[in-house]
Amino acid sequence: MSELTVAPATNGLGGRILVPGDKSVSHRVLLLAALAAGTSTLRGLSTGLDVHHTARAIAAFGADVSSSDGGRSAVIRGGPDRLHEPQDVVDVGNSGTGIRLLAGWAAARPGLTVLKGDASVACRPMGRVTQPLREMGAHVDGRHDGAYPPLVVRGGGLVGIDHEPAVASAQVKAAVLLAGLAAEGDTAVREPVPTRRHTEELLERFGADVEYGSGWAVVRRSELQPADVAVPADPSHAAFWAVAASVVAGSDIALERVYLGPGRTGFVDVLRRMGADITVEDPDPAERTATLRVRWAALHGTDVEGAEVPDVIDEIPVLAVAAAFAEGRTTFGDAGELRVKESDRIATTVAALRALGATAEERPDGLVVDGAGGGRAGEGRAGEGRAGGRLPGGRVDAAGDHRIAMAAAVAGLACAGGATITGWEAVATSYPGFEEDLQRCRS
Ligand code: S3P
Repeated sequence: MSELTVAPATNGLGGRILVPGDKSVSHRVLLLAALAAGTSTLRGLSTGLDVHHTARAIAAFGADVSSSDGGRSAVIRGGPDRLHEPQDVVDVGNSGTGIRLLAGWAAARPGLTVLKGDASVACRPMGRVTQPLREMGAHVDGRHDGAYPPLVVRGGGLVGIDHEPAVASAQVKAAVLLAGLAAEGDTAVREPVPTRRHTEELLERFGADVEYGSGWAVVRRSELQPADVAVPADPSHAAFWAVAASVVAGSDIALERVYLGPGRTGFVDVLRRMGADITVEDPDPAERTATLRVRWAALHGTDVEGAEVPDVIDEIPVLAVAAAFAEGRTTFGDAGELRVKESDRIATTVAALRALGATAEERPDGLVVDGAGGGRAGEGRAGEGRAGGRLPGGRVDAAGDHRIAMAAAVAGLACAGGATITGWEAVATSYPGFEEDLQRCRS
């Protein structure tokens, strides 16, 4: 297991950061490019292991994947004539998105696919995808009657369904719509709360017969056309630096080319509500991207709940860090989904905050954080905790969860004694260059 020690930032953070390509978009463009007959060119892909596994998966199905620039760029030659049954079990690594999207994608194909992941993926609920895919006519099985991986999918011969998922999940929506690309008739998804719209936007980009609006989408059987896609920077990664700049006094950071489309900007709204100083510069409406400029500001508590939660579900660990340095109480509710992410993120976020000296408590569907107030790194003494308006810092176990590791590193920048994160290797899942970006913005 590797460790990272983050010393407190005494001078404020600065500079421009281009975080890695969006993970949600990267998985989807790879899967769609594999279906499109012809050559697609993808740039700005996520360099994390999750997306690397999806690239390997489409290659196992017969797509020709030629990667360059450390995995950031790929030329994909795909199409129905190239694709075949994979010869072996397809391993998604740590990626819940990978396994759920691939389940729907494989259901659209004749033949047998076996999907497995690591120990964390083995505990992720799959009934939410196996149930609608079975309704569409796919033969899908897994442990506990299809509730957990590994999954076995025998696809083909599908009919469209009108699906109203019980949970607001962009992954479920994607799995059903990807299966719908090969189904007879309309395949519709109606969401209880609107989620990120990448699947719909990218289906359109690859020429699928798709219609969509806020909280609904309908797809019909389609042959996809290749596309050239520049993947935007991942807002969930940008959120780490937005919080870092907000809690380290004297900071001024610019985050370049961040995707700001539907379902992904919730962390900006929450941070602004807490008093953060975030401005949007150089917007590119066609790409739905902009630069986020974040300057240090004193934060105060807020409540995050209801329809806002799917928009911030991945950002809650780092928003909880912002809450730990804010004045007053912050609550996160209606977020029971956090318990079935890469770790039980209600438990692991609370454990991380407490390990750093913060006051945080679990709720069945969320957490409550009593903030220590802001302050300038280097002021106060280690061990002062709340009384000093700052947190002492300490050792945090990443619990195998990339977002817990990065949230704790951000917190360490503003703790009197910094932070040491054990199990730092988890970060490779999504953001292998995090440590370099950390050094860059403090120099
Ligand atoms: C994702 C959707 C979200 C998110 C995950 C990526 C996606 O999960 O937490 O990191 O790419 O569709 P759910 O759809 O399960 O909420």
